[in-house]
Amino acid sequence: MEKEFLSDQSFELRDFTVSASCPSNIALIKYWGKYSGQIPANPSISYTLNHCKTNTELEFIAGEGFSVQTFLAGKEELKFAEKIEKYFRSIEPYLPWILKGKYIIRTENTFPHSSGIASSASGFGAIAKCLMEVDEAFSGESGAEFKVNKASFLARLGSGSACRSLYEGLVVWGKTSEVDGSSDFFAVRYPDADIHPVFKNFNDWVLLIHEGEKSVSSTVGHGLMNTNPYAERRFQEAHENFTLLKEVLRNGDMEGFIKLVEHEALTLHAMMLMSEPAFILMKTGTLAVINKIWEFRKSTGLPLFFTLDAGANVHLLFPNNGSEGQIKEFIEAQLLQHTQNNGVVKDVMKF
Ligand code: PMV
Repeated sequence: MEKEFLSDQSFELRDFTVSASCPSNIALIKYWGKYSGQIPANPSISYTLNHCKTNTELEFIAGEGFSVQTFLAGKEELKFAEKIEKYFRSIEPYLPWILKGKYIIRTENTFPHSSGIASSASGFGAIAKCLMEVDEAFSGESGAEFKVNKASFLARLGSGSACRSLYEGLVVWGKTSEVDGSSDFFAVRYPDADIHPVFKNFNDWVLLIHEGEKSVSSTVGHGLMNTNPYAERRFQEAHENFTLLKEVLRNGDMEGFIKLVEHEALTLHAMMLMSEPAFILMKTGTLAVINKIWEFRKSTGLPLFFTLDAGANVHLLFPNNGSEGQIKEFIEAQLLQHTQNNGVVKDVMKF
């Protein structure tokens, strides 16, 4: 399958500047654990966000020795450049021209840096989009579907979950019998026709409980699944959850959706607690917010719920179905106090 994206096409180089923008995404069924070659241990599904984006400009200077210079919000980032250099070397079989010039990459996020919002997803998504534009300019047109699938394939090799950011709506990565065309190598859009309208108009407000570096990177976290005695059961459960989610999405079963999404978030963190060595990414504020959400739901019956990434921040999920006013008031009055600097990023899902 990966062969599909190998390239031995002839190319014509020239100086080229291209820019692209790519949103972040938030997983509902989580990817946690992988095999070599960035192959996910289980299928995952995410919502693509709307406002949390990375904007990237990539300048290619032909004929100069291969080198990469990167700027994040105008500031030169040497570590990031090293990472991108290594990444470009790894994808040469798919883009044979890639090491034949110098790169200047200018990138900025529309959300606070180190906020815990997956900047690697939007970041690699935007770079992969730029690369496919350059590829088209050098090697000729390839067709819109192939181009986006290959961008997703390339983004995956940078950061697994990035491959889901290339499409709008609900997006699946990883082979599952529940979704036609799903693949371990690139993401596909979940069929819109199989999603009840109530799930297409959703908010994701990210409470910034803890800003700053995470104590354990997701690379290390994925690695610890290799020796986690509960890993196999977890991978199997993700498959089972796809079967459940498919039904929930079709029927508009909000209660079923909430139960499944929160269970997935807690399972992700439970895997961290059961790793050897164990690690904890939730903070006191994370737990306080979760408990308040549960109390709020119990007393009002309104559909406010949460998911978590590999970090302390809480993604507050709620539909625009008439109850959002009351939910927003509750968030402002009761939950914001658990953030570090009154930090909240208000996003909506993109369909
Ligand atoms: O793409 P990575 O390697 O940063 O892993 C992301 C993993 C989670 O965000 C925790 C889950 C997911 O599916 O996005």
